[in-house]
Amino acid sequence: MRIDVVTIFPAFFDVLEVSLLGRARGAGLLDIRVHDLREHATDRHRTVDDTPYGGGAGMVMKPEPWALALDEIAAAGHDAEDAASGPLFLFPSPAGERFTQSLAREWSHEPHIVFGCGRYEGIDERVFSYAATIGRVRLVSLGDYVLNGGEVAAMAMIEAVGRLVPGVVGNPESLVEESHEDGLLEYPSYTKPASWRGYEVPDVLLSGHHGRVAQWRRDQQVERTRTRRPDLLPE
Ligand code: ADE
Repeated sequence: MRIDVVTIFPAFFDVLEVSLLGRARGAGLLDIRVHDLREHATDRHRTVDDTPYGGGAGMVMKPEPWALALDEIAAAGHDAEDAASGPLFLFPSPAGERFTQSLAREWSHEPHIVFGCGRYEGIDERVFSYAATIGRVRLVSLGDYVLNGGEVAAMAMIEAVGRLVPGVVGNPESLVEESHEDGLLEYPSYTKPASWRGYEVPDVLLSGHHGRVAQWRRDQQVERTRTRRPDLLPE
């Protein structure tokens, strides 16, 4: 999978060199390229923002540097005539649709994703219309809170999507029994020692009885989901 990121803070993405995703990049499973939006600014001060039409607080990101950046990225591997076969453009935004595990799963099959990280009060709205002539466009929110920009949200989505790309996580079975994969939260896990500082591992997990262990884990999943995330359960 190829992933491009457009940002005014490329250094945010240095952490993609470590851990599982770093290894996946080294192995050629994920081709991640980070681009500095300011390289596409058209003035000598490398300006990427301006005041909003209609007034209001804050600054808005100018459209032209975005168009130049997206054109350059899309031209590298796609037929610009056909937006449906172009890259998937994801713009992190608190005003977007909610990101979920099911979207992560769907997007893990995409050959090319481009993250556009906005700062300030956002990106000139016409950029989304322009991007839709090159590829498919989605505005995506991590949750109902506000971050300073799209970088942290893009990082979270790169990790959530990237780890579902075949080969990135060494043991694919570990992807099956996770929170949100079956619509429930994950069951609790324990390791040795069985007795630790006065806290005990539940007896059933020491019983060696696979059927009872499976039933206990299922019950725990349902109970946790009921108390912590009742919104995930059917009415
Ligand atoms: N940018 C700012 N806040 C955000 C959020 N909650 N999700 C995604 N992108 C954002």
